[in-house]
Amino acid sequence: MRNNESTFRGKSASLSAGSTPSERLYMLEKFERYPLAFGPTHIEKLERLSAHLGGGVELYAKREDCNSGLAFGGNKLRKLEYIVPDAIASGADTLVSIGGVQSNHTRMVAAVAAKIGFKCRLVQESWVPHEDAVYDRVGNILLSRVMGAEVELVDEGFDIGIRESWENALRDVEAKGGKPYPIPAGASVHKYGGLGYVGFAEEVRAQEAELGFKFDYIVVCTVTGSTHAGMLVGFAADGRARKVIGIDASATPAQTKAQVLDIARKTAALVDLGHAIEEDDVVLVEDYAYPLYGVPSEETKQAIRLSARLEGMMTDPVYEGKSMQGMIDLVKKGFFPEGSKVLYAHLGGVPAINGYSYAFRNG
Ligand SMILES: Cc1ncc(COP(=O)(O)O)c(C=O)c1O
Repeated sequence: MRNNESTFRGKSASLSAGSTPSERLYMLEKFERYPLAFGPTHIEKLERLSAHLGGGVELYAKREDCNSGLAFGGNKLRKLEYIVPDAIASGADTLVSIGGVQSNHTRMVAAVAAKIGFKCRLVQESWVPHEDAVYDRVGNILLSRVMGAEVELVDEGFDIGIRESWENALRDVEAKGGKPYPIPAGASVHKYGGLGYVGFAEEVRAQEAELGFKFDYIVVCTVTGSTHAGMLVGFAADGRARKVIGIDASATPAQTKAQVLDIARKTAALVDLGHAIEEDDVVLVEDYAYPLYGVPSEETKQAIRLSARLEGMMTDPVYEGKSMQGMIDLVKKGFFPEGSKVLYAHLGGVPAINGYSYAFRNG
């Protein structure tokens, strides 16, 4: 095995998409991609967190949260890279999407609309009961407003399915003479929503070849499902579908699991995977989403503080804090065999922490 220190600071960081055969995204070659991210994301070893947890398991993070100059980046950009060509080809002029008030996804759609010269209409539903008076003024929604998106607050609760409020927004854009392009919550049930994270798996394979080892597990936060679904399909190509450990943050795990399976099957067909995706290929750990979507438990807050204080790596109370909590707890419980190398997919989402100043008022 090579020296980790030089490998992580050097080669893996300098990989650029598609420049040598080992870095090509073979499964996605036939799809058009509009580049929105910088290129392959950095993988770093979480030395101090691994040691803190006993050192028996090596933890690494793939920094999808640092993947672009577009409004703090995050996982939605890989998905949108395969959706934007379709939006442009459709002749639309307005991206229309939906999420909670502190949705990272809608912030990313606003950024992408600005970048490609589209208008942006966002429906922000009341998916989260909140303590902060300025919850609907700071963080993601602030950024979307500054980027020029038309933001509509709608008093409806959490649901990852297709929403009437979003369909109304699509009709409204049309009624006003615009040409809407629909992007569902998390870009997940869009026909191309799963492709981006197939590319993540291919990118990890190329980085593994450079690093000289393979990851035994990949930990991912799962809510609307296409991140997990795409990874599952991408890693199914080398027999690792069940090594993708989804940590549910939706608190509606049956619906999330069904959506991951559905997206994975459709994505597998799109990329001609060549074998079936089984129900058991979707591994979703349900234990860390409590008490509710968007509401951090005391244990989630502790996990956020721990990775922040040991690694300087920020996570958020809605998504990554819960998958961080899950990964830490699974290490403690001995879920990962001694010597395992675990890759934590850091999917972004930190701007939302600005809506949780009360929860972190004492750090
Ligand atoms: C930061 C962050 N992590 C994880 C997720 C979950 O990804 P998905 O909705 O594709 O399951 C999201 C979006 O929902 C997110 O914004």
